[in-house]
Amino acid sequence: MASATPTASAEGTVALEYDGKSLSLPLIQGSEGEVGIDVAQLRNKTGMITFDPGFGNTGSCRSAITFIDGERGILRYRGYPIEDLAAKSTFLEVAWLLIHGELPAGPELERFRRETTYHSMVHEDFGRFFEGFPKDAHPMPVCAAAVGALATFYQQPETEQSIHDSVVRLIAKMPTIAAYSYKHSLGQPFMYPKNALDYCSNFLHMMFATPCEEFVADPILAKAVDLLLILHADHEQNCSTSTVRVVGSSRANLFASIAAGISALWGPLHGGANQQVIEMLDSIEAEGGDVRAFVDRAKDKKDNNRLMGFGHRVYKNYDPRAAILKNACADVLKAKGLASRQLEIAMKLEAIALSDDYFISHKLYPNVDFYSGIIYKALGIPVNMFTVMFTLGRLPGWIAQWIEMRGDPDTRIARPRQIYTGATARAYAPLEARGQ
Ligand code: ACO
Repeated sequence: MASATPTASAEGTVALEYDGKSLSLPLIQGSEGEVGIDVAQLRNKTGMITFDPGFGNTGSCRSAITFIDGERGILRYRGYPIEDLAAKSTFLEVAWLLIHGELPAGPELERFRRETTYHSMVHEDFGRFFEGFPKDAHPMPVCAAAVGALATFYQQPETEQSIHDSVVRLIAKMPTIAAYSYKHSLGQPFMYPKNALDYCSNFLHMMFATPCEEFVADPILAKAVDLLLILHADHEQNCSTSTVRVVGSSRANLFASIAAGISALWGPLHGGANQQVIEMLDSIEAEGGDVRAFVDRAKDKKDNNRLMGFGHRVYKNYDPRAAILKNACADVLKAKGLASRQLEIAMKLEAIALSDDYFISHKLYPNVDFYSGIIYKALGIPVNMFTVMFTLGRLPGWIAQWIEMRGDPDTRIARPRQIYTGATARAYAPLEARGQ
């Protein structure tokens, strides 16, 4: 078999030496100095493919949306540091920024606010759609199904205008769908959106109001939700975003692509981790609060327990979103006069893990999910809705990535290759010859 050794040169190419031959592969450079080897011609020219399970070394696209430097703990949307956006912006502004590339001017923001307010109701038939799910249905698959089903209500051919309408509908209706999926699990009546409320207060209203009494969303809690949504709004080519792009690359419509992204986000190694963090903190408490013992178990490869909310494929430093959330957690709890045993345990866990050789040498730091569950709990959001909250936040990122992918002349239907390791050609075995 060929032995292939890539070597870098200064001229913007690398030479791949194989079987006594050489192939020059162009280098691609990003605006932050990241360098990629363009292997688009590799199989054509050599018959070989690259092998990269989990795609840790594979750039699947050019993107101008989000920049992450995992080594230095940097996250920027369209060039703006996440810390600035978290401190100064609102979720709707950030959504516009991600989708359109620039922060909205005043009239643009006002129009977007109006559009996303006046499209927040869902078709009455949607209520009956929810009735079909079992009462104990997890709200994530319910949301995925509901978003997929939106495609049956809006079947216009794809044009710039219809894509704009789908974007507005998704951002407007997602809080309604999320709240409906929760109300369904409680057996409570669905609450219609209220156009007088801002995006996050309206979501809290649809989640927690009932027709029986007045409900006023707490502005501190609404602001905390807004912050959480901003922090989750995009994270470049992660599992769910790549899923949205892969599905959209087949020319599946926006609703279908986003529904697939929601399913990918549900997994415990991705968006489902914040639920697992709370379960982990509760089990540590139930077992007597021995944080050190749990950290030891998380290091033990024979034990299946990982320290949930720790580690990240890209961040090899403190996740900047976790740093913002840690402070926000403390602020919200203080403002509401609440104590959180979970926050106490989490901070102890973090302190022990960050001074432990295993976590230091593996570069494992708290990720966004380590503190997000605690703040959701403080906001009164039930554990099974945590991942749905993540979905609400990630929606504009998925939309922006889908639109960018559709407009990219390099986009082709996603179709990876494989290294086949199964049986080689063999003669068909008739049933009588196959034994007992
Ligand atoms: N606790 C203990 N050990 C860990 C942890 C952890 N949380 N995370 C990684 N490791 C160890 C692995 O055992 C492995 O050790 P080894 O090299 O000695 O065998 C090494 O660190 C690398 O781990 P991988 O799983 O190969 O890293 P990968 O990049 O594939 O996975 C992931 C990243 C899935 C996030 C992982 O760190 C993890 O499972 N963390 C816990 C789940 C979690 O918090 N997920 C949320 C991610 S953020 C998000 O999706 C929003």
